[in-house]
Order: sequence, then structure tokens, then C-alpha cells
Amino acid sequence: MASAKEKYLAFLGSPEGCRIYKQFKQFLYGPDDALVDVLYRDHIEPRLTRHTGGLFRLADIGGGDGGRITALLNRAHADFPKLHFSLSFVEPSPASFLTAQERFRALGDWVDVTAWNQRFEETALEQESCDLALLIHSIYTFSCDATIQRLAGLKADVGGVLVVANDPEGLLMKLNSRMQAGFQEKRYELAAFLADLSRLHIPFDKTESNIGFTVPVHAFDAFAQAILTMTSMGAYPAFSSEEKEAAHAFLKGLSVAHDAQGWTYEQTEVFLAV
Ligand SMILES: C[S@@+](CC[C@H](N)C(=O)[O-])C[C@H]1O[C@@H](n2cnc3c(N)ncnc32)[C@H](O)[C@@H]1O
Repeated sequence: MASAKEKYLAFLGSPEGCRIYKQFKQFLYGPDDALVDVLYRDHIEPRLTRHTGGLFRLADIGGGDGGRITALLNRAHADFPKLHFSLSFVEPSPASFLTAQERFRALGDWVDVTAWNQRFEETALEQESCDLALLIHSIYTFSCDATIQRLAGLKADVGGVLVVANDPEGLLMKLNSRMQAGFQEKRYELAAFLADLSRLHIPFDKTESNIGFTVPVHAFDAFAQAILTMTSMGAYPAFSSEEKEAAHAFLKGLSVAHDAQGWTYEQTEVFLAV
């Protein structure tokens, strides 16, 4: 397949892809999901504090299995129990969508959820405006100007669209470019998105958070299996033993420190408030 975008979409849409993505997130962000923590503390809680009115309208575009948005909603509800929430949720993967729907059913009547099992480009949202639209690691299939302009227009207020992406110089980008070298059409990543925002005169505010992690020595093989299967979009298990060894050496070489505790990695998350 010549398109890394389509291959990645198909991989994440498969039950195996969903399983690997879950494992991969556990290694990178820990069991309590450090990204949810940073997102809530630095980006959502301050917006909720500033918000006036009884309803906070959220959108989650490419929300995956709904794990992150339900964790964020539960935290928001715990801190702002008088606020009512609505959520527009868009996710094309059938396997992830099913899990998300189960999670939504467990939420209380303090939130109304409308969910679409399709791509954002094909989705007519009930309202093309919300208080906060989240795109957490989901810009990779976008690229056309009309979609970017529509995304940027989803907000009711300045900064109401929050895009989370990986640092272009970071661990995942280095692995992605090694694993996806053979594809003609690359994934749409942060550098191209930033260039497009500037070209389209869409203002944004960029911040970063460093969420490092250490892989214990005994867990390295399981970590390598998850992160290399994820970044190769399912190809890694069929690698020859030499290819696997080379990929392991490359992965170890990307760590910033290695001692008796294990391999330590830096992981910079970039947040764009559009
Ligand atoms: C890396 S996952 C992130 C999932 C979730 N946001 C999270 O942080 O756990 C990217 C998600 O974007 C979805 N996606 C890909 N292309 C999309 C599109 N055109 N419209 C909406 N979602 C899309 C994928 O199906 C996948 O679930």
C-alpha cells in the first residue's frame, strides 16, 4: 500500500491495531495516562474555570476508543458538578467506536453524547461550533485546506480547538520515519500542519509538555513489540530476526539514558490552541 495514512487508519481500525495501541499508550503514558493529566490540568480545567453559562460543549475528533475523553469528562464533572456537558464524538474505526459507546453508556445524565462512526470529512456535525474541540493525535489523515479550515472554525472562542501532536524531533517521529520510509504518501504530521495553518492565516498558540518515561529492563522486549508494531503499522511481527534486532538497537539508541533501572525516553507533546 502506497499511503501510510490509509495503512495507519486501517491498522488502528482493526481489533489487533486497537489492542496494540492500548498497550503502546500504557508504556508511553503509564496506567493513569499522563497525557490525560496534562491535558486536564493545563488546558481543560482553566477553560472550564473561565467558562460562563451552564453548558460546556465538547467535540472529540478521532477520539479512538473514547478512553481519554471519558477520563477527561469524569474529571471535569468531579470538579464542576453543576456544569452540563455535551460531546460530539467522531471516530471512523468500528472496533474503537464500539468500545467508546460502551464507555459513554457508563456516564451519567450530566453529559449528552452524539457519536458518529465515520471520518470527520464525511460527518455533518449537529453544530459546527463548540467550546472546546479536541484532536488528540488524530491529524495524520487530514491535509486538505477545506478540512483544516473547517476544523479551525469549530470553536466558539479563540483557542477553542486544541490539537495534540508529537514533537517532530521526538521518539515517535524518528521511529515513524524509519518504519514508514517505503510509503509514497506520508502521514500528515505537525510540521506540515503548522505550515498549512500559517499559509491559511489561521493563528495558533503553541505550547509543549515533556512527559518522559522509563522502560524497566525486564519490560524492554514487550515495550519494543508494542512500539515497533504500532509504528510499523502491524508489520513488525513478520520482520526477520536480523530486522528485529536492528529495530531494537535503533530503539535503544533513541533513549536519552540507560542504567540499571532501564531505558529512559523523552516524550514531548505539542499543544496547539487554534
Ligand atoms: C492515534 S489514534 C488517537 C485516538 C484518541 N484520540 C486517543 O488519544 O486515544 C487516532 C484516531 O484518529 C482516527 N482518525 C483517523 N482519521 C480520521 C478522520 N479522517 N476523521 C476522524 N478520525 C480519524 C483513527 O481512527 C484513530 O482512532
